[in-house]
Amino acid sequence: MRPIRVKISVRCLSVFYGSFQALKDVTLEMREGAATALIGPSGCGKSTFLRTLNRMNDLVPGFRTQGEVTVDGDNIYAPGVDVTRLRKRVGMVF
Ligand SMILES: Nc1ncnc2c1ncn2[C@@H]1O[C@H](COP(=O)(O)OP(=O)(O)OP(=O)(O)O)[C@@H](O)[C@H]1O
Ligand SMILES: [Mg+2]
Repeated sequence: MRPIRVKISVRCLSVFYGSFQALKDVTLEMREGAATALIGPSGCGKSTFLRTLNRMNDLVPGFRTQGEVTVDGDNIYAPGVDVTRLRKRVGMVF
């Protein structure tokens, strides 16, 4: 059997749009090769969370994060991260 590997790790993630807090202290691990579903009522932050995984919120005025998001162990909000390269690794289909 293949060993379980964590692909995306999220620790103590909070997301703000200005003074509004959209995500509160989210911690979870997403496994490589697994299908993970996010389920919740409208406005609970599903899209915000997904956009945070490839930094698509960066251009939203007032957007900021606290906590850590890693993809294959790399902190995607670290200074100097090449966002275009990140988006080659973390795609999104609308
Ligand atoms: N660009 C933005 N500026 C300010 N607030 C925002 C922005 N985008 C989302 N929000 C707010 O953040 C919260 C989470 O929204 P989000 O779109 O992530 O929810 P959702 O779970 O994807 O909802 P839905 O099921 O309707 O798609 C909502 O209160 C929303 O109004
Ligand atoms: Mg949504």
